[in-house]
Amino acid sequence: MNPKLAIPDAAPLVLSLRSVGYTLETALADIIDNSITAKATEINIDVKWNKELNYISVRDNGYGMNEAQLHQAMKIGSKNPVDPRNHDDLGRFGIGMKTAAFSLCKRLTVGSKLLGSNAMCMRVWDIDKIAETNRWELFDGSSTPDWKDALSRFGNCEQGTIVVLEKLDRLITENYSDQAIGRFWQRIADMEKHLSMVFHRFLSGVQAIAIFINGKKIEPWDPFMRNWLATQEFREEFLECNGESIRAHAFILPHHSKLSVKEYDEAGGPGGWLEQQGFYVYRNKRLIVPGTWFKMLRKNEPGQLARIQLDLTGDMDFEWKIDVKKSSAAPPSTLREGIRRIARTAQEASRKVYYYRGAAINQQSKAEDNDAIWEQASIRGRTFFRINRSHALLKDAKAQLNADAEKKLNTFLSLVEGFAPMNASLTGPVSGEANQENELIDSAASFCSDLINAGYSKCEALRKVLQISIYEGMAEAIENKLQL
Ligand SMILES: Nc1ncnc2c1ncn2[C@@H]1O[C@H](COP(=O)(O)OP(=O)(O)OP(=O)(O)O)[C@@H](O)[C@H]1O
Ligand SMILES: [Mg+2]
Repeated sequence: MNPKLAIPDAAPLVLSLRSVGYTLETALADIIDNSITAKATEINIDVKWNKELNYISVRDNGYGMNEAQLHQAMKIGSKNPVDPRNHDDLGRFGIGMKTAAFSLCKRLTVGSKLLGSNAMCMRVWDIDKIAETNRWELFDGSSTPDWKDALSRFGNCEQGTIVVLEKLDRLITENYSDQAIGRFWQRIADMEKHLSMVFHRFLSGVQAIAIFINGKKIEPWDPFMRNWLATQEFREEFLECNGESIRAHAFILPHHSKLSVKEYDEAGGPGGWLEQQGFYVYRNKRLIVPGTWFKMLRKNEPGQLARIQLDLTGDMDFEWKIDVKKSSAAPPSTLREGIRRIARTAQEASRKVYYYRGAAINQQSKAEDNDAIWEQASIRGRTFFRINRSHALLKDAKAQLNADAEKKLNTFLSLVEGFAPMNASLTGPVSGEANQENELIDSAASFCSDLINAGYSKCEALRKVLQISIYEGMAEAIENKLQL
């Protein structure tokens, strides 16, 4: 049998690679990965869109490449994914830089300089040329205004690499207008948020690197709010997988009452509180997945304070099904039980803080000490907090009261619930259990009659009941019911 060669055609392959599924955020993160792997301490992203220029460049002061290395690096599949890599290498597949760039642009120019070399070497892929010739022709020079402008910013750097994306046809899809410019810069602002999350562990600490967008430094966004006293930190756990150890470290974030509106908004993160709960999967300190329960649990409101750091190394890429874009991961089946247990514990702890209005919970304490004070209910389309009537202390106290005193205590608890500040302000979408109007009138009437029995005048009792938001507008119905 004589095997025949079937070499892929350049034009269709490169055009298909454009649709691997990168977003602006994931594409830029993939290019920055390479700068971090090259030990850069400063990375500058320059974004230009005006009437003369439109490009994005990423320049770093990492160890750079010589001409042969750069030529190899520009090939699709420049390295074999199964080859071992250094423990801190953020790459795996040998295609990230090219596919990330092509998903945004049609012209990729890379210039690089090794320490001690005088000249910069460069290579250019131009998709229009590849589509025209159907050949993998890689150029070694460029004189476009975009490249010249980008290069001028590189200046006299002793070493480093500059990656320039020109002909941004997938990013700039509109004509130059005020609205289009506004939308464009909004996307760049979103990208900044994403990068401050994905690289936050590189952006802080003693050996922090600095990343700038058009000269503005990106600040790290720590999903775990480690600097907050009210954040609860669980003990680290280690899960074993094929002789490797995976570190899981759970945090329960502070109740929103402990944060200002601005702090609360910021802590929510790029996706918001609900979306950003769950496991944060890091590969060599670089965030791959920002908040997931791996389809084992649902994301829900009370669970939104739980965030768990999960640390993987590059040696686990295949077990965890890390994708080319470094934006998804799935645990191997042998770890699912351990992961589910950690997830449940964290969700439960989050639920308690969420309903507890921020009271500290000691994870080592007995379950009965953790009985929630407040329970959530949904009444007339509003979220409403009720005192947990089965709390052990309350049950104990009631057991020592006579029937009359117990009734008075219940009436008082109803007043506390009705006038609790969070019940006046908290509203929200409710599913399922909205009470029937009749039941609500019954409960308002019986509450009113409890107040009368407790010594309130008819008029005062009615006024009190009507001040409670869920009973608003029920005056006539209550009067009829009680025949006041
Ligand atoms: N900024 C840079 N500085 C130094 N070398 C670089 C830089 N960018 C890319 N390279 C070299 O180019 C190679 C190819 O990069 P590319 O992103 O395509 O693949 P990768 O990083 O090896 O793997 P992955 O596809 O997982 O990202 C890298 O392995 C690295 O050797
Ligand atoms: Mg890479």
